[in-house]
Amino acid sequence: MYIQELHTVEGQKVKLQGWVSNKREGKGIVFVILRDGTGYCQCVVTETEVDGSIFEIAKGLSLECSAEISGTVVKDERQVGGFELRVTDLQLIGNSPNYPIAKKEHGIEFLMDNRHLWLRSSRQWAIMRIRNTIIFSIHRYFQENGFMLMDSPIFTGNAVEGTSTLFETDFYGAPAYLSQSGQLYGEAMAMAMGRIYTFGPTFRAEKSKTRRHLSEFWMMEPEMAFCDIFQNMDVIEEMMHFVIADVLKNCRKELELIGRDISVLESSLQPYPRMTYDQAVRIIKGEEDVNGVNSITSLERELQQVTAKISEMESEIAEREKKIADGNLKKGEINFNQNKIDTLKNEKSELEEDAKNIPQWIASAKGFEYGNDFGGSDETVITRLFDKPIMVYDWPHEVKAFYLKRNPENPRFARGVDVLAPEGYGEIVGGGERETDEKLLVEKINEHKLPMDAFEWYLDLRRFGSVPHSGFGLGIERMVTWVCKLKHVRESIPFPRMYGRLKP
Ligand code: 4AD
Ligand code: MG
Repeated sequence: MYIQELHTVEGQKVKLQGWVSNKREGKGIVFVILRDGTGYCQCVVTETEVDGSIFEIAKGLSLECSAEISGTVVKDERQVGGFELRVTDLQLIGNSPNYPIAKKEHGIEFLMDNRHLWLRSSRQWAIMRIRNTIIFSIHRYFQENGFMLMDSPIFTGNAVEGTSTLFETDFYGAPAYLSQSGQLYGEAMAMAMGRIYTFGPTFRAEKSKTRRHLSEFWMMEPEMAFCDIFQNMDVIEEMMHFVIADVLKNCRKELELIGRDISVLESSLQPYPRMTYDQAVRIIKGEEDVNGVNSITSLERELQQVTAKISEMESEIAEREKKIADGNLKKGEINFNQNKIDTLKNEKSELEEDAKNIPQWIASAKGFEYGNDFGGSDETVITRLFDKPIMVYDWPHEVKAFYLKRNPENPRFARGVDVLAPEGYGEIVGGGERETDEKLLVEKINEHKLPMDAFEWYLDLRRFGSVPHSGFGLGIERMVTWVCKLKHVRESIPFPRMYGRLKP
């Protein structure tokens, strides 16, 4: 029996199989929180109701040991999952002495080194379930709307998204690259199938540590024949609405468990503001307000608030440290205060990061040079002003990919569109309409110093029945990171691969 099905067997006797995620002992009673991957259930072992030997086993259960526990299912709204098990029998399956991840604050590097175990913790469990819902929901959206799933190759002979992030490998003695995007192959397939989408691993050598970049990530890339940039934006928005609605419907308890404020997800079911690059630049630079809020002055105000909060926390930490040092506290009180101090210190270091970042955001926003691509801080500055994703289109063609179509009315701009997630998150989708003019495309390939012979097949798509077409790429990890409001993309994938991290 799985924990998530307990509501169907109220009052009956069942057997659960899982791992001990927590245990408390009282006089003559042991409370075990069992998890089985589908949920959590409190199992109550009472000394007077089980064999003496079973009660001894219950008392000896340690964190993350595995067990089979039988008992009667009782409804109890106060418990996780709404049910508890009155235990009649219990068997230890696999012991787990000295489980390394304790119920206290651990450093991030320690947790990352123990990712294979960290995945068992409730927060990671919830994030992975939300990730699963997002992926399944995207498949469902495309499948239900007439898109065909296509698998694009991982070994490729050409760059798609710039030559600076290529991972080179040896392909029978010749160089090959790990795929940076399935798009170009997707375009070929769209000319065969009409509407397709790819879902695959994507590789980018990003030799810097940021909270948004992985070296290996998963991307969904639809490609649509007979589709312009505006129809493309309609599809992006519809897909995002579909996925977010699914998460809100199916992942309530997971969102609650990770403490995600869902109001922004709810407002993200509304239409997304669409703006040109030009307008976005004015907003970033503080030349245009968003609903009466100015990018620069709102950041300056927040900096003041953050600084005040930090000194408040510092005095609370000092106060509690003094209490402990005075030596009049009981052991439980010392632990309580020490835990508070650890939590405060963690929160403080987050605020200190803000205090360090905000002045940089202000400086880069004020100094933004028209014509540049957006950097991470520019995206943060603009998206903090919105409570839903925004779509920025018509970018200076020099800063965007070679394959984007020029705006026929103003060829300085390429018809790319970036979707930037709110709350400071930034780009989660990149896409656009594709260039169909062979001559312009050849010019671009040369301008980007790409080897023409690797693109001959791609040019064929313009030579034989070319049509207006568009598509986009959604980074799964960026999406999960935003939906879960994670600080760093590394928690959005089971085993992250990024600069400085290949293990476990
Ligand atoms: O904007 P990008 O580079 O666009 C493309 O690859 C296009 N070929 C997509 C298309 O039009 N078919 O990447 C698309 C998305 C980004 O918006 C981001 O969500 C994600 O992929 N992404 C990354 N995610 C994690 N780590 C990285 N290093 C990422 N680089 C891009
Ligand atoms: Mg992009």
